[in-house]
Amino acid sequence: MAPLQVFLLLSLICLCKSDDRLTPAKPLSAGSKLVSDNGVFALGFFSPKNSTADSYVGIWYNNIPERTYVWVANRDNPITNASPGKLVVTNNSDLVLSDSQGRALWTTMNNFTSGTTGTAAVLLDSGNLVIQLPNGTDLWQSFHHPTDTILPGMPLPLSANDDLYTRLVAWRGPDDPATSDYSMGGDPSSDLQVVIWNGTRPYWRRSAWNGELVTASYQGSTGFIMTLRIVYRGDKLYMTFTVSDDSPSMRMVLHYTGVFRFLAWNSNSSSWEVFTEQPSPSCDQYAYCGPFGYCDATETVPKCNCFSGFEPNGVNFSRGCRRKEDLKCGGGDNFLTFRGMKIPDKFVYVRNRGIDQCRAECSRNCDCTAYAYANLQNGSTSDDMSRCLIWLGELVDTGKFRDGENLYLHIASSTVDKESNVLKIVLPIIASILILTCVSLVWICKSRGKRRIKKIKNKYARQHSKNSKSIELENETIELPYICFEDVVTATDNFSDYNMLGKGGFGKVYKGRLQGGNEVAVKRLSKSSGQGADEFRNELVLIAKLQHRNLVRLLGYCTHKDEKLLIYEYLPNKSLDAFLFGMFCSHGQVSRNILRITEFVMVVNALNFALSCKMPQEMVCLIGRPGSR
Ligand SMILES: *[C@@H]1O[C@H](CO)[C@@H](O)[C@H](O)[C@H]1NC(C)=O
Ligand SMILES: *[C@@H]1O[C@H](CO)[C@@H](O)[C@H](O)[C@H]1NC(C)=O
Ligand SMILES: *[C@@H]1O[C@H](CO)[C@@H](O)[C@H](O)[C@H]1NC(C)=O
Ligand SMILES: *[C@@H]1O[C@H](CO)[C@@H](O)[C@H](O)[C@H]1NC(C)=O
Ligand SMILES: *[C@@H]1O[C@H](CO)[C@@H](O)[C@H](O)[C@H]1NC(C)=O
Ligand SMILES: *[C@@H]1O[C@H](CO)[C@@H](O)[C@H](O)[C@H]1NC(C)=O
Ligand SMILES: *[C@@H]1O[C@H](CO)[C@@H](O)[C@H](O)[C@H]1NC(C)=O
Ligand SMILES: *[C@@H]1O[C@H](CO)[C@@H](O)[C@H](O)[C@H]1NC(C)=O
Repeated sequence: MAPLQVFLLLSLICLCKSDDRLTPAKPLSAGSKLVSDNGVFALGFFSPKNSTADSYVGIWYNNIPERTYVWVANRDNPITNASPGKLVVTNNSDLVLSDSQGRALWTTMNNFTSGTTGTAAVLLDSGNLVIQLPNGTDLWQSFHHPTDTILPGMPLPLSANDDLYTRLVAWRGPDDPATSDYSMGGDPSSDLQVVIWNGTRPYWRRSAWNGELVTASYQGSTGFIMTLRIVYRGDKLYMTFTVSDDSPSMRMVLHYTGVFRFLAWNSNSSSWEVFTEQPSPSCDQYAYCGPFGYCDATETVPKCNCFSGFEPNGVNFSRGCRRKEDLKCGGGDNFLTFRGMKIPDKFVYVRNRGIDQCRAECSRNCDCTAYAYANLQNGSTSDDMSRCLIWLGELVDTGKFRDGENLYLHIASSTVDKESNVLKIVLPIIASILILTCVSLVWICKSRGKRRIKKIKNKYARQHSKNSKSIELENETIELPYICFEDVVTATDNFSDYNMLGKGGFGKVYKGRLQGGNEVAVKRLSKSSGQGADEFRNELVLIAKLQHRNLVRLLGYCTHKDEKLLIYEYLPNKSLDAFLFGMFCSHGQVSRNILRITEFVMVVNALNFALSCKMPQEMVCLIGRPGSR
């Protein structure tokens, strides 16, 4: 109800009915109470423990048998001595609660001094206690200074830069109205979401506002509706709730246990009925599933999950999930869409971005792990209707629920599903072709293979006659230049991340420049790759044998303690496997080529073993670029 209407209404009836208001001439003392005009709310002195003298001033439901307080004035400063207190409206238009010695225990501090005759404190039908000037202006209202309860129509500001910004603060115990460590209100770092804190640590978080004006709606057992809304005034957001006319008494309360509850009074059972509570008892608590994990509330029994491309970081989700494959810088424009998400916390709000610009904002940033976009057209009154959020680093406190929004997760290119599917299909086909080819070429192998290998060997012997070591595999000998470890360290700037071209199951690939200026790609086999000395030698010999203009050339190798390094020529453009697999189109081709070649060599290797086929050069040509011979 608008203040002016209230004032007019009250002006008409106040002469006969004045028990809903205090004036400077009529203070409130223990034993008496104000009752709102509709009889629903009462203001007075109380003691929650029912034993000592009244020690608090508060507002409660006047028509509900179970005493339920919705507001307390002096919650941290109770009246301690046995003598009764007094609540007065001063000539400065303030409400002041004082004890029998005249000490002020609580005051509204308006300090409004000009023209003050006729000021009154009125308990409205909504449960709002307001201090009104004679012309109807509200100087102060209890709805702007809540304790632990939100009543219908009461706004909870989300913007921390709001004059009215405040938090709900829970009672310390069932009978102790003092402020506890649990508080709830707008998140000052974003102005877009509501958080419950336990001290300074978040305990629960509502997903960032996405432009929906009605964020939840509940229907009670007798058909009434209550609706949770977000209202946007100017550039400030408020959370509030409204109820249909036929509804019973309703409230939202931050319970002393830290749980936020939505309650309705059931007159049949004479008790408060809980509609919803947050956090729910499952995995809903803040960051419960750890970084990169999310709580799936669409399951019958909500439980933690990892994003695809991630695996649990340990036996349970206490440490969240980790990437199966590192996000490669310049990994490009690859995103996986997760629908129906409670989007994570700790986002960066980028202003004035369309959805494509928002995506670009994330894809060009190496540290960007995800983005989410929403259009605020129905709410915002400012010019910027966009809500582009990006995440740099870990994704914490994510969830999945029925009304969630889209979250776009930045992923390493090689984990795109499409790609792995193509690999799954293409590799067996190639393997079959190789088998057929190999079988049909066995006789060629027998007759011509040996000669050719010898030729390669001679070629290498000529090219790298100095600084070469012989490698023996079975009864074959191939010569490859050995490059000393120090040279590789120098070439790659001590394997600096800056020079890293890519990474895979076999290890990392670095770009380097050897003395003399040759650009090389150095594959550093990871110590955990399980590639032992034999396999290493095997690969060396096979790749050396496979020298072909469509393959990346192996220039040398290096071993040092348990380091195993392969040095390839650096090809800035696509090569064989770009043709083979046709989809490594944009980034870091060289590194991936080398990794794929390793896979290719393994296939060949297996065939070699199975069929004792000495790999002839013709075979390479079959899978080389058409017309390349
Ligand atoms: C509160 O007081 C009433 C009557 O004065 C009494 O019947 C009731 O047991 C008391 N409750 C508690 C919790 O002490
Ligand atoms: C308020 O003002 C009236 C008249 O101006 C005066 O009689 C009264 O004592 C004042 N009350 C207080 C609490 O100062
Ligand atoms: C109100 O006035 C009193 C006394 O003059 C002063 O101590 C207090 O700080 C003032 N409060 C505000 C909010 O200005
Ligand atoms: C009401 O009166 C106060 C002071 O007398 C004044 O500041 C305010 O603007 C007035 N409000 C309206 C709506 O007239
Ligand atoms: C709140 O924090 C306190 C102290 O850190 C802790 O003992 C308590 O368990 C926390 N409460 C919840 C509900 O997690
Ligand atoms: C209370 O009981 C009456 C009669 O059984 C029923 O019509 C009404 O819906 C009930 N109210 C609530 C709030 O359950
Ligand atoms: C998860 O595992 C760690 C140790 O691995 C243990 O300390 C922790 O209590 C476990 N948490 C849950 C919720 O089981
Ligand atoms: C805005 O409101 C219109 C109609 O009220 C609705 O169709 C549309 O989905 C809303 N858009 C958003 C982003 O909420």
